[in-house]
Amino acid sequence: MSRSAHPAGPRHADVLPEGHYSAPAADLNALDEKVWSRTVTRDADGALTVGGIAVARLAEEFGTPAYFLDESDFRARCRAWADAFGPDADVFYAGKAFLSRAVVRWLKEEGLNLDVCSGGELTTALDAGMPAERIAFHGNNKTVAEIERAVEAGVGRIVLDSFQEIVRVAHIAQRHGVRQRVQIRVTVGVEAHTHEFIATAHEDQKFGIALADGQAAEAVRRALSLDGLELIGVHSHIGSQIFDMAGFEVSARRVVQLLAEIRDEHGVELPEIDLGGGLGIAYTSDDDPREPHEIAKALSDIVTRECESAKLHTPRISVEPGRAIVGPTAFTLYEVGTIKPLEGLRTYVSVDGGMSDNIRTALYDAEYSVALVSRTSDAEPMLVRVVGKHCESGDIVVKDAFLPADLAPGDLIAVPATGAYCRSMASNYNHALRPPVVAVREGEARVIVRRETEEDLLRLDVG
Ligand code: LLP
Repeated sequence: MSRSAHPAGPRHADVLPEGHYSAPAADLNALDEKVWSRTVTRDADGALTVGGIAVARLAEEFGTPAYFLDESDFRARCRAWADAFGPDADVFYAGKAFLSRAVVRWLKEEGLNLDVCSGGELTTALDAGMPAERIAFHGNNKTVAEIERAVEAGVGRIVLDSFQEIVRVAHIAQRHGVRQRVQIRVTVGVEAHTHEFIATAHEDQKFGIALADGQAAEAVRRALSLDGLELIGVHSHIGSQIFDMAGFEVSARRVVQLLAEIRDEHGVELPEIDLGGGLGIAYTSDDDPREPHEIAKALSDIVTRECESAKLHTPRISVEPGRAIVGPTAFTLYEVGTIKPLEGLRTYVSVDGGMSDNIRTALYDAEYSVALVSRTSDAEPMLVRVVGKHCESGDIVVKDAFLPADLAPGDLIAVPATGAYCRSMASNYNHALRPPVVAVREGEARVIVRRETEEDLLRLDVG
């Protein structure tokens, strides 16, 4: 056992301060395949490699902090979702998790559709050649200009989120002489949290139109009465980072009930339902996500069963996974800066990024894993908190984790499963420069979103 470079830091589980963490892994050098992307491994020298390239080379060429995205893993996950749901269903990747033109091209090549929720995402999708009919346009407050653009482009569906929007989209479509395909987003009274769901009698949130008090049925009435709209179905999204399928089952049941009510009232069977995204991924070894084929089977079983009992034709199902596709495919690489052991507490390890490249820990109390990746180490485990370089004590990247006690400034550490909602929610706080996204595949690495520069900052600041 090597000597610790930081003797004041607590090391063993039996002397740990209070907090939420698992016991240190028996071997800190081991890489749990649940949290790392598929081509990640360690080379003969102990350095982590992705797509066959060692992190030291990546750091030298692209700098740190940086996100490294495992392109073959991304493509494999797209295919797994498409195969699991089969030809009678549609998979829409939720672009809010992470979107770039390269990603759009991969989605297109792998046969996925795309969910966008802003003019910026729509522009990126169209610019990269995603056929408009494969795009779904979301949002609780789409501007008139955004709706115009979506209708003009001919997006496959607009998901209506309010009574005002029903009229607005209908008018715009009529003005363009088209019937816009739309779905109505309903709130089904299921509030999904990370590991649980709570059925609620009424909704208290900005998205969707409530089922409970007949609002959704009224929205359907209005949409069916407007010439500019072709109502193709009902949409429900119950939350994010969900492991328990029970919330989806309740949601599917209620959506099918609404389809039956629509059939009874209007004599039409809407052909589609969309059950949204929200499937959880492993951020730490404690998380056990489901595979796409299990999810597909659970959803299609419940929809088929409910439709049989309501004597409805089974509608075409669509889903909108974002995190479950891109989340596990990337890690953030940081260089270790200052290290502060706090007697009886933990050791603070500062990295060259922070809440500007990963706001999720500060915002959602999210948990992440971390590993020393530029080398292996036989040193004892040391309880650490990985923090950024921002002027804020809440600037935490990994709240509680173990790293080898001989960690030193200049080492490279990596945080896995940062593909979703990290670059897409990155900020310039403290005038930080947002890191690049580098796609790695079969021994080649290329920048797909470049690092910001100080010139970029000054260009926006017009004096
Ligand atoms: N569809 C709709 C209508 C959504 O609102 C969302 C996410 C998704 C699909 C994709 O959900 P996913 O499969 O990625 O969980 N920033 C938060 C997550 C916000 C999700 C918002 N909507 C986070 O970092 O956890």
